[in-house]
Amino acid sequence: MTDGLARPQTVVAFGGNSDIARALILRLVANGTRHVALAVRDPQRAPALPGAGARVDVLAFDADAADTHSAVVAEAAKRLGDLDLAVVAFGLLGDQERAERDPAAAAALARTNVVGGISLLVALARHMRAQGHGAIVVLSSVAAERPRRSNFAYGATKAGLDAFAQGLGDALAPEGVHVLVVRPGFVRTKMTAGLEPAPLATDADAVARVIEGGLRRRAATVWAPPALRWVFVAVRHLPRPLFRRLGL
Ligand SMILES: NC(=O)c1ccc[n+]([C@@H]2O[C@H](COP(=O)([O-])OP(=O)(O)OC[C@H]3O[C@@H](n4cnc5c(N)ncnc54)[C@H](OP(=O)(O)O)[C@@H]3O)[C@@H](O)[C@H]2O)c1
Repeated sequence: MTDGLARPQTVVAFGGNSDIARALILRLVANGTRHVALAVRDPQRAPALPGAGARVDVLAFDADAADTHSAVVAEAAKRLGDLDLAVVAFGLLGDQERAERDPAAAAALARTNVVGGISLLVALARHMRAQGHGAIVVLSSVAAERPRRSNFAYGATKAGLDAFAQGLGDALAPEGVHVLVVRPGFVRTKMTAGLEPAPLATDADAVARVIEGGLRRRAATVWAPPALRWVFVAVRHLPRPLFRRLGL
């Protein structure tokens, strides 16, 4: 159970090697989380969590294998007991050029980011409904707010995941389960290594701090950094001809 200050005692991260997920877990462990499960594609390659003072289990998880998701959630619950917090952190940036031209590349990106995300969310929702409490953090992106010319293949997948997670949050709120949708901008992680940082670029620990605040407030959505919320209010409403001319 979360303690009186809404701090989770147990956390499972799907995409447990994600730099953002690991930064969040380190902060949560420093604040009292005592048992962590990292659900990763290859359990042999899950690097240790340096300085983590909690018990850490590693589970096998493939976002693309939707038919295994209920079993992975059950396995996480078997190891952790109550699932206080689940972090849906896996994702692929993909290759925009390829995804525009190669149906298989576009489908692979959608399979991981949307189909895998939605399938896992449904498995988590079913478990947390039965449990009667819990929180789910979903790593969406500002790219979901308005997919842009330069990355609409990724943005469209995040928009699908984001929409489903928002609706699920509405469905689960009366049942005591909190869903937090996180929309980071450019974060310096291995996903963006070698890319030119966008304006208002941030790092994984700053995103983790924003997520912690959102969990405490039981917010439905947070932006990281928070100022991006207002930038994207403007971007979202730009008329299409102007938006197109900007070549974003
Ligand atoms: N970095 C950014 O600028 C940024 C901005 C907005 C949103 N986000 C989102 O934030 C989340 C975390 O990203 P990050 O920056 O922390 O990137 P990251 O360090 O590259 O983490 C992404 C993780 O997704 C995992 N993954 C990919 N496909 C998978 C699959 N089929 N099954 C299981 N795991 C899979 C990868 O696992 P392996 O270790 O096995 O490769 C990797 O650890 C992602 O959803 C991303 O889209 C990132």
